[in-house]
Amino acid sequence: MNKIVQGAFCLIFGMLSIVAGAQVKSVDQKVDSVMGLMTLEEKIGQMNQYNDDWTATGPVTLDNTKAEQIRQGQLGSLLNCMGTRRVRSWQMIAMQSRLKIPLLFGQDVIHGYKTTFPIPLAEACSWDTNAMELSARIAATEASAGGINWTFAPMVDIARDPRWGRVMEGAGEDPYLGSLIATARVKGFQGKKLGDLNAVMACAKHFAAYGAAIGGRDYNSVDMSDRLLWEVYLPTFKAAEEAGVATFMNSFNDLNGVPATGNKYLQRDILKGKWDFKGFVVSDWGSIGEMINHGNVKDGYEAALSAITAGCDMDMESRNYKDHLAQLVKDNKVPVALIDEAVKRILRKKFELGLFDDPYRFCNAEREQRELNNPAHAKAAREIAAKSIVLLKNEHQLLPLSKNIKVIAFIGPLVKPIMQNKGFWDVEVPDIDSSYVVSQWEGLKNKVGKNTKLLYAKGCAIEGENRDGFAEALEVAKQADVVILSIGERRDMTGEAKSRSNINIPGVQEDLLKALLSTGKSVVVLINAGRPLVFNYTAEHATAILYTWWLGSEAGDAIADVLFGDYNPSAKLPISFPLSVGQIPIYYSHFNTGRPATSDTNHNYNSSYNDLSIFPRYEFGYGLSYTTFKYSNLQLSKKKMTSNDRIEVSVEITNTGNYAGEEIVQLYLRDRVGSIVRPVKELKDFRKISLKAGEAKTIQFVIDKEKLSFYNQKLEWVAEPGDFDLMIGASSKDIRLTDSFELIP
Ligand code: NOJ
Repeated sequence: MNKIVQGAFCLIFGMLSIVAGAQVKSVDQKVDSVMGLMTLEEKIGQMNQYNDDWTATGPVTLDNTKAEQIRQGQLGSLLNCMGTRRVRSWQMIAMQSRLKIPLLFGQDVIHGYKTTFPIPLAEACSWDTNAMELSARIAATEASAGGINWTFAPMVDIARDPRWGRVMEGAGEDPYLGSLIATARVKGFQGKKLGDLNAVMACAKHFAAYGAAIGGRDYNSVDMSDRLLWEVYLPTFKAAEEAGVATFMNSFNDLNGVPATGNKYLQRDILKGKWDFKGFVVSDWGSIGEMINHGNVKDGYEAALSAITAGCDMDMESRNYKDHLAQLVKDNKVPVALIDEAVKRILRKKFELGLFDDPYRFCNAEREQRELNNPAHAKAAREIAAKSIVLLKNEHQLLPLSKNIKVIAFIGPLVKPIMQNKGFWDVEVPDIDSSYVVSQWEGLKNKVGKNTKLLYAKGCAIEGENRDGFAEALEVAKQADVVILSIGERRDMTGEAKSRSNINIPGVQEDLLKALLSTGKSVVVLINAGRPLVFNYTAEHATAILYTWWLGSEAGDAIADVLFGDYNPSAKLPISFPLSVGQIPIYYSHFNTGRPATSDTNHNYNSSYNDLSIFPRYEFGYGLSYTTFKYSNLQLSKKKMTSNDRIEVSVEITNTGNYAGEEIVQLYLRDRVGSIVRPVKELKDFRKISLKAGEAKTIQFVIDKEKLSFYNQKLEWVAEPGDFDLMIGASSKDIRLTDSFELIP
């Protein structure tokens, strides 16, 4: 660059910075000017969030003075208040307060608002971050049209224990995949920028390590090393923070004996300190008060002190901030500066959302009607639902089914129910018919031509021992060319407070399968669930298995699309499926141990179970397609690299089957020797590619220092020189090509 150009560049850049600086400053200035008008009580008011009366997602505090408290400026936000009519009515009350500070309206928009998308764990099976960003985008568009400006999503907790009911809300067991999905979801919810009409604030939750609750029991303690915390449980939160997430929610659990809600290390030192997070932190429902039960504080006064000191800015429903913060300030236990910091963070977001310009901007009933009936949303929901279905087994290439089949028997307790398909955490939108779901029966009916006859029998209930329906099911099966059996959990068997010690397919559903197979017919099993279930009989005997999870509004059509090959399944599991609860926690990126077990038969003083396999039923990254893919021609640009260097990796993938399809090509690394031992393999990259039958594509990966780094004993992020194994595969077990390289000093 010559001097003149350089000078001009500096001038323009300087001017831009001034303009940008002025903009940032102007929000801060506005915040400061409001702060200057506020009494201590009004400031504390901003730090309280109450539940509305419409629906409850936690233990309710009955309170008929809410409106008056809002009028007095004693409330900053409501949750579970939806629909433009209702939101507007509360906001009007806020506008009667002295300073007319608008309320925030928060809601668990976890997998859709009116249009329900697949549960988050199901969507994660797509490994398709664009699709997940789109589903969050649509959810935000609908929610914001319904008055909401803040979703309590995404849940970015890593989960390795399917007994934990909330495994359904996350992206599975892996920090690399989880971080990409966290980023996509934050971007989807928040859109181009907060302040746009269709953007809502996202909330990364639950900070931190909630997914590691001991025994998979919800709300339970978490005990883990700093290394595990930093390496596995924090990266998804860091990714959300880097994606610009507006808020964080802390968590119910204690971490190594300190409740997350009062945990200064997590909130002040890491989040607001090291990561320099500029948004605000909300408690989980009542979690400030629950610190008394934890046995970490004596009473509500101490609980409020602990939470604010630790960096929790807003109290969801415990009311300890409301009851004790003013006194804590008077007693010189809490400096006003701490209150100011929290309130500024909250007000900044209210300004960014544009609520001070127009508190009713998300309350346009016309827009609500339009966005909540947008057919494009259903189309997207159907596409991502199909992408979320995992083909686990396909003996004799039974699937895809031919559209010319004469008679199909569709059997099972989940064929006809409608709302079950929504899964847990669906949203019941007021004033709008939110019951729209394509049932599995309807989906199949929509798909087949008039020459195909569909027969139905329920067979049995989801739970219970009653086999009275078996006879009818057998009768129906005998008349059919193929049987499709839809079984699984109830939708509310996973979700918050839905931990289970027995995760087998409930009731007599697998016995029904056994009976149906005795007819000699081929049986395709659809497994509907919110978590990895245990279903060994089905895995061994069914002819084909589709794991359909809970797919949302378009479940029926999406399932039919996959059954008949209009969509060739491409999903891969983001979480290991155990053979038995006895294996839990089970995850692919484990350490080798000093006495690794390599088989299920040799228990000679090695790290195995004497009575159970150590291998999962289905491993992380597993999922079949109607076509097959050949992996070949792995090439590394070099075999040695320094930490400033990079290695380019290329591999050729060929579709060797008869159908067009997508493959998720996975790249794993193993650091052979580390000052902290390294997992047997770690996912470091992947590509989802689409290939026509017979087509081949070469794909590229880059290995750089970042991919080789880990937290050492001093918690420094380092790449240690030495040998690395490179594995390219179709799953964490199905490794097709390997090589190695060296990181040199
Ligand atoms: C408790 C849950 O843990 C949290 O995820 C949710 O956002 C709140 N309740 C509000 O419903």
